[in-house]
Amino acid sequence: MSKLLVVTSRAPFSYRYSANGEILVPNVGGVATTLDSVLRRYGGTWVCWGDGKNDIMHPEETIKGYTIDRIFLTKKEKIGFYNSYSNRVLWPLFHYFRDNIEFDSTGFKHYYTANEKFARKIKEKAYPETVIWIHDYQLMMVPSILRTMDLHNYIIFSWHIPWVSPEFFSILPEGKFLLQSMSKSNLLTFHTKLYEKNFFRTLQYEKIKLPKGLKSLAIPLGIDTKMFSPSKHKAEVSKKDKIVIIFSIDRLDYTKGLIQRVRAIEKILGYRKDLIGKFVYIMNVTPSRTGIPEYEKIKNQLEMEVGKVNGLYSTTSWIPIVYMYRKISSRSLQSLYARGNIALITPLIDGLNLVCKEYVATTKDGILILSKFAGAAEGMEGALKVNPNNINELASSIVRAMEMDKTERRARLEKLKKYVQSKNSDWWYKRIINVAGRQYDAF
Ligand code: G6P
Repeated sequence: MSKLLVVTSRAPFSYRYSANGEILVPNVGGVATTLDSVLRRYGGTWVCWGDGKNDIMHPEETIKGYTIDRIFLTKKEKIGFYNSYSNRVLWPLFHYFRDNIEFDSTGFKHYYTANEKFARKIKEKAYPETVIWIHDYQLMMVPSILRTMDLHNYIIFSWHIPWVSPEFFSILPEGKFLLQSMSKSNLLTFHTKLYEKNFFRTLQYEKIKLPKGLKSLAIPLGIDTKMFSPSKHKAEVSKKDKIVIIFSIDRLDYTKGLIQRVRAIEKILGYRKDLIGKFVYIMNVTPSRTGIPEYEKIKNQLEMEVGKVNGLYSTTSWIPIVYMYRKISSRSLQSLYARGNIALITPLIDGLNLVCKEYVATTKDGILILSKFAGAAEGMEGALKVNPNNINELASSIVRAMEMDKTERRARLEKLKKYVQSKNSDWWYKRIINVAGRQYDAF
């Protein structure tokens, strides 16, 4: 048993099959990656969902310095909890995608059942003094279930996606239950002041009494900067071919503003013929939530738009957009960060976004174009901030980045590096544990 219990839906890694037998695959998503690095350093127990094909063979294990305890869901529960309620109701709701919400009360039933399974596992694993640290929108009912099970442990709830306005939140039929449950925690954390403010405004709007002693913190998640050191590669425009590398890495999600980026590239090629052949946009999208109709739809749309631009502008020796629909290895990721001259991180809305921080930590001379609607924009001074819905602005920012002189580039990057280095994952972890009134090294 451990004094710190971290709880997430997504596991840090899963067991799958390959031609050579069982393999251990790290999962995508910044939350799992960062928590993995802090738990490796400080230890603890991690309760998560065993979603991998062969996870059932590993219900509990101690690996990489911490313990993992997996819960399992039936196929029906998975569809209701994950596909329906988490990702077709809560995800679009908290990203203001009204038209993508599929209201579904059976989904909520399975969501509740899955949250109960998490709660039972937590109860089994917690000492009275264990701090229970729950993460994200998939587990909103866990605090109230734990309290009805008579667990009085200290609960931290970290929210990793945006929190919407109270008026928008009020369209959610089960909204009040979810809110009441979250407010049974002792400490809530959000990535930005806006999300924190929206949460408390929502409590008021829904006429839920502010629980005595409920603390909150607006604190952005940081990265493990040791994993992203400036590389030996030269990120400057390659002397040989003088091609500027623009790149992006995202989960394939309708919130990421992927189509807008393709349209911005098309716009540039239309009005700056002199730039044809001078740059390439490497767009890497990782398969995510496949099988959910809205994700299939955005994938088809994106591939059509990429095909259209490449069809219009490619030559026998050049292609404007290199589109990769797959999860790339961490080596390729690092190399893209090192070689990329411009990172185009322009979600329509994003809880935080850690890719931009990883890039800043790795690049020696790069430029970051960042959406002002990403939580990470708060604090990332030095980035070129854009409204991703404004294709003209997006296009002109890309051109501006391509033409930016070295002095400005360096000054911007220096500011960004300072911020990312100091507000890293270690800082984030220690601060939260500290506000919870615990010693981070006493677990
Ligand atoms: C976002 C969410 C995480 C989630 C991740 C990957 O970052 O905030 O909670 O784990 O996306 O999504 P998935 O559906 O694969 O867990």
